[in-house]
Amino acid sequence: MKVLDLNISFEQYNDIAELNDKDRSLCEQSEQALSGSYSPYSKFRVGTAIRLKSGQVILGSNQENLAYPSGLCAERVALFSIGATYPEAIIESMAITAQTDHFEILKPVTSCGGCLQVMVEFERKQSSPIEVIFYCLNGEILKVPSVKSLLPFAFVEDRLER
Ligand code: THU
Repeated sequence: MKVLDLNISFEQYNDIAELNDKDRSLCEQSEQALSGSYSPYSKFRVGTAIRLKSGQVILGSNQENLAYPSGLCAERVALFSIGATYPEAIIESMAITAQTDHFEILKPVTSCGGCLQVMVEFERKQSSPIEVIFYCLNGEILKVPSVKSLLPFAFVEDRLER
């Protein structure tokens, strides 16, 4: 038996002003995406902005449903939209933010496991890393260099692709 360790490196910023221009713009666009959220049940808005290699930015927001499991997270709304509309696109970076009128969000909201598994698949498909920026409005920002580091034990089975 042996015990193995996994380490992940990520960047932490105290303010959006510390980010480079591209990252700051992506965070601002994730905030704009919040306006598209349909979240009458949780009243928790999530927005994402995804920058493609072409420079184009695709927005997504959480879309809920009275039959709760039929709803979808912001990240997957945007990613599946890219998959359907721009199947050859290369994703460079995505920013995610959240907002609610019911309490103050003090820390960056990180993506759920289901979204991470989908993000991993997009990253594997394009064979290049996708940066992920978790942006707390008026708070700290975390930047991770690739999705893989967020879900190192993602479900992967290449033989299913045959
Ligand atoms: N949500 C997201 O949009 N992304 C995540 O990664 C986690 C949660 C949404 C789903 C639901 O509409 C609301 O946040 C509360 O769970």
